[in-house]
Amino acid sequence: MKTFQPAPDAVDQALIPRKTLYTGAKMPGIGLGTFGSDHADAALVANTVREALRMGYRYIDCAACYGNEPEVGEVLGEALKEGLPRSELFILSKLWNDKHEPEAAVAACKKSIEDLQVGYLDMYLVHWPFPNYHEPGCSGDARHPNSRPYIHEEFMTTWRALEELVDQGLVKALGVSNVTIPKLSLILRDARIKPAVNEMEMHPTFQQGRLFQFCLDHGIQPIGYCPLGSPARPDRDKAEGDLVDMDQEAVQAIARAHGIHPALVCLKWAAQRGQVPIPFTTKRRNALANLRALTEDKLTALEMEQMKGAERNCRLIKGQVFLWEGADTWQDLWDVDGTIPGWHGYENK
Ligand SMILES: NC(=O)c1ccc[n+]([C@@H]2O[C@H](COP(=O)([O-])OP(=O)(O)OC[C@H]3O[C@@H](n4cnc5c(N)ncnc54)[C@H](OP(=O)(O)O)[C@@H]3O)[C@@H](O)[C@H]2O)c1
Repeated sequence: MKTFQPAPDAVDQALIPRKTLYTGAKMPGIGLGTFGSDHADAALVANTVREALRMGYRYIDCAACYGNEPEVGEVLGEALKEGLPRSELFILSKLWNDKHEPEAAVAACKKSIEDLQVGYLDMYLVHWPFPNYHEPGCSGDARHPNSRPYIHEEFMTTWRALEELVDQGLVKALGVSNVTIPKLSLILRDARIKPAVNEMEMHPTFQQGRLFQFCLDHGIQPIGYCPLGSPARPDRDKAEGDLVDMDQEAVQAIARAHGIHPALVCLKWAAQRGQVPIPFTTKRRNALANLRALTEDKLTALEMEQMKGAERNCRLIKGQVFLWEGADTWQDLWDVDGTIPGWHGYENK
């Protein structure tokens, strides 16, 4: 039988930074994104995961809705059979919006574990905090008739089902994604098992300073999605006025000074600031450069300060496909005025 062989140019595991979660688990300081969007099919993503494991990635950021967990799981299962210790891996998956009912949530989590061939998940997230669904490939202005604003009691019913999965050892820890301070405050108040991570959009032009600090203050590790500004995101997530992170002068000037690609500046900034970035790529060369970005050639304190100046409050994943009938704008999803919009008189207490 084949044994798991690191690539000749693999990054030494000892050099890759780790974050200690409140659970005591040590999470790699960078993960590989697996959202192939509309352009990378499941086989291509799975092949990148195979290469990534061999070069030293251990955190793979998965989700049922990415439509590739069975293919990614083939690769993970193969690596485990070849002798890669399960304890070295950090496998995260996410509950999709149409599976929030407790029974469906438990079944969805078990399916992800089975598809990914990993026996248990290191982290399970509620992908979005409401059960709003959109048809694959739908247009940006589509509204599903069952969509509704966040309802805290509904969320907690889902969360309690997930807490039982932790009790059973199927999931090591729970996390949230796409939440706001008002929603996270309610979840922290009522959760028996507190979220250990918050996966949130973060890149130089969208630093989310307040939510980032709120997470740190509450012992929640921020994970930064779209760390490179997701240049190949689906068309429905592109809007007039969106900025390109890698074209920002602050990013480019630092890239020139270090003689590196602007993508690597985004990742160094992210890791040095304290989030765990999860860049996606289909190219071996880029995957390796992204991993190495964390282990060599740090940004200076001055450069970290200059990166603060790239902030433009430019949210890319606005989530408009999750809006409900009657909602005004995508801002309604993000509680920008500090309150959670209600539904049929429902109050988020
Ligand atoms: N929780 C959520 O709701 C949520 C939402 C969105 C995303 N995510 C997660 O976050 C991950 C990352 O976000 P994302 O995929 O949208 O965007 P991203 O990581 O910001 O950008 C990925 C793009 O950057 C390019 N790239 C990667 N490394 C590069 C390098 N070194 N130099 C130049 N270009 C490079 C890739 O192209 P090449 O293939 O050509 O390298 C790809 O097109 C996703 O895959 C997913 O796991 C989570």
